[in-house]
Amino acid sequence: MTTDHLFLRACFRRPVPRRPVWMMRQAGRYLPEYRATRAKAGNFLNLCKNPELACEVTLQPIDLMGVDAAILFSDILVIPEAMGMELRFLEGEGPSFPAPITSAADVRRLGDPDPEVELGYVMDALRLIRKELDNRVPLIGFTGAPWTLATYMVEGGGSKNFALIKRMLYAEPETLHQLLEKTTQAVIRYLTAQVAAGAQALQIFDTWGGVLSKPDFLEFSLRYIHRIVEAVPRQTPTGEKLPVIVFVKGGGQWLDEITATGCDVVGLDWTVDPAQARKIIGGRTAVQGNLDPTTLYAPPAVIEQRVAAMLRAFGDAPGHIVNLGHGILPDIPVEHARAFIRAGQAEVGK
Ligand code: CP3
Repeated sequence: MTTDHLFLRACFRRPVPRRPVWMMRQAGRYLPEYRATRAKAGNFLNLCKNPELACEVTLQPIDLMGVDAAILFSDILVIPEAMGMELRFLEGEGPSFPAPITSAADVRRLGDPDPEVELGYVMDALRLIRKELDNRVPLIGFTGAPWTLATYMVEGGGSKNFALIKRMLYAEPETLHQLLEKTTQAVIRYLTAQVAAGAQALQIFDTWGGVLSKPDFLEFSLRYIHRIVEAVPRQTPTGEKLPVIVFVKGGGQWLDEITATGCDVVGLDWTVDPAQARKIIGGRTAVQGNLDPTTLYAPPAVIEQRVAAMLRAFGDAPGHIVNLGHGILPDIPVEHARAFIRAGQAEVGK
């Protein structure tokens, strides 16, 4: 039965013989095998859009690293692309939207994608990955939170101070709400389709929630995350319970509010004290995280000590999924990533 997977058990705070471990960005450039598959695809976006190759890189960390969950290989920015925005990934420069959203008219022009059509390649990848995984570990689907997606859509790419989207937030809040509303509806349809195609857990990434003040976070980010958590299916087509994970980078001060969305797991970045997080959240959700990804620059012996300390800090209560506090960096030695996984899988606690 799939609910017996360590990862799913931990998501629902059931006792486990050892904690499950996975890493955000576990299929990525730190793996030479990933770089080889990406070279076959030509570039990153082609890799996302080729179900066979996306399946191949999704399985690499399972086969090569022994992690306890698979995460769909894709990107959060395929949603705005499916809504009609041109998306480019320039080598070494990260993502860019050459024609960003600047007005209410731009928001009105965005499409309402049908996930089985515009994002059909993602659904094909999910179906193929489930088949190839053959139930070895569960498969996590994901989305960006509407606020995080909107930052890229309005800024046109990464940003240092978020001046453009914050200007929209303060000067034209109704336009921003319309953008968030349209994106939220696209996200709900997208995640619903992911579950139908085989996702067994869902993670919502709010990478930029932490750049907002508390009232702005509640109004422009968490409100929409809450609606997504309430709207997505919480069981698979075959009747297994399906957990939802909410990860807000920089959200450590709002754990009580994030927990109140009704999610099953709260993702924590490394600035959060594990014991304090457990106290605030109480028995309401499981927790996931939270080693500083740069810790993996340390020698393996140091990584092992840091992971052991982290496991102790989270304590023995059920419901801890070991992960980094954000994605693994591209220049981490594979052996150091292995040391992290091995130490996290040590049989201590529950
Ligand atoms: O975790 C996984 O292994 C699944 C795959 C995954 C990717 N991106 C692959 C990727 C996931 C879950 C994401 C999510 C994502 N993408 C987020 C939210 C999580 C986070 O990391 O904060 C964000 C903000 C993005 C947008 C994005 N995609 C950026 C900013 C970049 C460039 C930064 C970088 O690392 O180069 C990407 C590119 C990207 N997405 C890569 C991968 C493996 C690297 C591209 C490459 O291979 O050249």
